[in-house]
Amino acid sequence: MTSNSDGLLGYAAGEIVRGEGRGAPMGYPTANINALDESRIPDDGVYFGWFGLAEGDPPRGRLSAGTWLPALISVGNNPTFDGRTRTVEAYVLDFDEDLYGAHAIAELTTLVRRMENFNSIDELVVAMDGDKRAARDLMVKYPSRPQS
Ligand SMILES: Cc1cc2nc3c(=O)[nH]c(=O)nc-3n(C[C@H](O)[C@H](O)[C@H](O)COP(=O)(O)O)c2cc1C
Repeated sequence: MTSNSDGLLGYAAGEIVRGEGRGAPMGYPTANINALDESRIPDDGVYFGWFGLAEGDPPRGRLSAGTWLPALISVGNNPTFDGRTRTVEAYVLDFDEDLYGAHAIAELTTLVRRMENFNSIDELVVAMDGDKRAARDLMVKYPSRPQS
């Protein structure tokens, strides 16, 4: 795992848009970020980081501007599904609210692993379960978002 606790590996800011709708049935609903040009998106991979709302955005459940929730962020073209578009998708841990239309920021602080092309959706879900365990460990190590 590559980690950079006092800085950022990158970030994506933009509106949450609809994806292909595959995540929720897999048990991993994701918020797809339509990243603005100002974003600094690192190499493809699965990252641990922090998810927040832009200033002035209305709250969504316990998430409001200025609060940050731990998230796994996937960067890549989802090769398991032969995806053509490079996307930035956040799976916010322990969070179940609708995020469509929100203006969000995902800060990427730790690389968990590289993006992989799995032979089946089941294999991808096993890997995501492992990512979630890694995220739980990282939440112990980094209980809150690093202050800039
Ligand atoms: C923690 C996590 C890890 C992921 N790892 C991979 C991966 O290794 N390979 C891959 O093809 N897609 C990966 N994805 C992306 C999923 O394929 C994608 O979230 C899913 O297809 C849902 O996409 P949708 O929101 O467009 O429906 C990952 C997503 C998450 C949240």
